[in-house]
Amino acid sequence: MSEHEKFRYKSAFDLIAKAKELGIDLPWSDSIESLMQPVVIEGVRIPNRITVQPMEGFDSDENGAPGELAFRRYGRYAAGGNGMIWYEACSVSRDGRSNPHQMMISSDNVDQFRMLNDHVRKHAADTFGQDHRPFLVLQLTHSGRYSNPGGDFQSKIFSDNPYLDNRQAASGDRQPEFYSDSDIDRIKTVYIEGVKLAERAGFDAVDVKACHGYLLHEMLFAYDRTDSRYGGSFENRTRFMREVLNTPSKIMKTVRLSAFDLIPYPYGFGMNPNGSAEVDPAEVKKLITEFAPIVPLWNISAGVPRHNAHIGRPFDRGTFNAPPPQEHQLTAIARLIHATGELQLTFPNLHFVGSGYSWLRQHFPNVGAGVINQNKASFIGLGRSSFAYPDAPNDLMHTGRLNPKKVCISCSKCIEFMRLGVPTGCWMRDEEYRTKGKVIG
Ligand SMILES: Cc1cc2nc3c(=O)[nH]c(=O)nc-3n(C[C@H](O)[C@H](O)[C@H](O)COP(=O)(O)O)c2cc1C
Repeated sequence: MSEHEKFRYKSAFDLIAKAKELGIDLPWSDSIESLMQPVVIEGVRIPNRITVQPMEGFDSDENGAPGELAFRRYGRYAAGGNGMIWYEACSVSRDGRSNPHQMMISSDNVDQFRMLNDHVRKHAADTFGQDHRPFLVLQLTHSGRYSNPGGDFQSKIFSDNPYLDNRQAASGDRQPEFYSDSDIDRIKTVYIEGVKLAERAGFDAVDVKACHGYLLHEMLFAYDRTDSRYGGSFENRTRFMREVLNTPSKIMKTVRLSAFDLIPYPYGFGMNPNGSAEVDPAEVKKLITEFAPIVPLWNISAGVPRHNAHIGRPFDRGTFNAPPPQEHQLTAIARLIHATGELQLTFPNLHFVGSGYSWLRQHFPNVGAGVINQNKASFIGLGRSSFAYPDAPNDLMHTGRLNPKKVCISCSKCIEFMRLGVPTGCWMRDEEYRTKGKVIG
């Protein structure tokens, strides 16, 4: 196994040589033209392939309405030329919030979400003209075992999982409590309401989030929860998704999915049923096959960040200086590219967004264009890079390259902000967050 190491690939030559040394066939294109090409999905034109990935800002008001910093953040993404903006995790209910300042949509604040969308579209149009209309997706979530809405709330879990910290759900020696089917039925009702609210707020699409260990993902790996209509069999584990995705509504449905967990079966999704550490896309493909007629757009991620962040979010420095993982960042990136590519090639009529590109810094456009040229994704998603460098697409449009002084350095400070429950952004590249970054050390 190759060692994790700090980014030191100033030139394309160095990066490609490292990939070769690791035996990785890293997609690459000297021309970034394909990255800047529009795509049409169900008649809607998306101006280019660069997607802002969902990233919580933890700066909404106590009722979940987007605050001033959210208007600033999303305005910057739009003025930066990003073709698709996948809004951060937005809770469907107070009990499912990951933090007291997580976005939360309700009939009381839907107009503020509409105002945010108007603001975003105006920033895009003012910068690039009326024809450039970014595609706006709202990610709906319930944080399940990771809920932390404040006060003395104790979250529940859906299934027992020795790899995840069940004590997250309870303090001290208290045994975790399980969601009952009536709890899940209630959450499903507000989720369905959330889909309708997303449509009212003017989003182009809504994401029924099933990744990163949150509630719907937890159901997907609840193989052992056989006393529930939402656990055990494939039909049961996907029941919640099925019923929400079938909500009658004109808004486009999308899913962000952890397509593999690197947690052995029966505790991880997308894994070989023989219990090994091997990824097996069979169930993922079954899921996509079933929902393909109603879900044209999929965003592929991996794992549970609180357990194995490096597989979905390769970094140089771990959160709060956590010890580095046992693998090179390029290995993780190649695994994500391969998994997404296999799905895109299997389902050529659907569109897939790839994840985990920020560690590549100024080289992401060439790798991304290479991925698109090989039909291994329709969109290249940027998480931390979008905090650091929201106008990367604009620079690509005007100069054909990125400025290495503006790129994300994958230092994990943004995650630390989030874990500390304070507004989240890039301390390195964004003045707004710099002082805060210094304060937390
Ligand atoms: C501060 C922060 C907040 C995040 N919030 C979300 C979220 O709300 N929803 C989600 O699906 N992923 C979330 N992610 C994961 C990112 O969308 C993305 O998958 C991850 O950062 C890897 O992509 P990157 O290498 O481009 O950063 C978050 C990541 C960060 C760093």
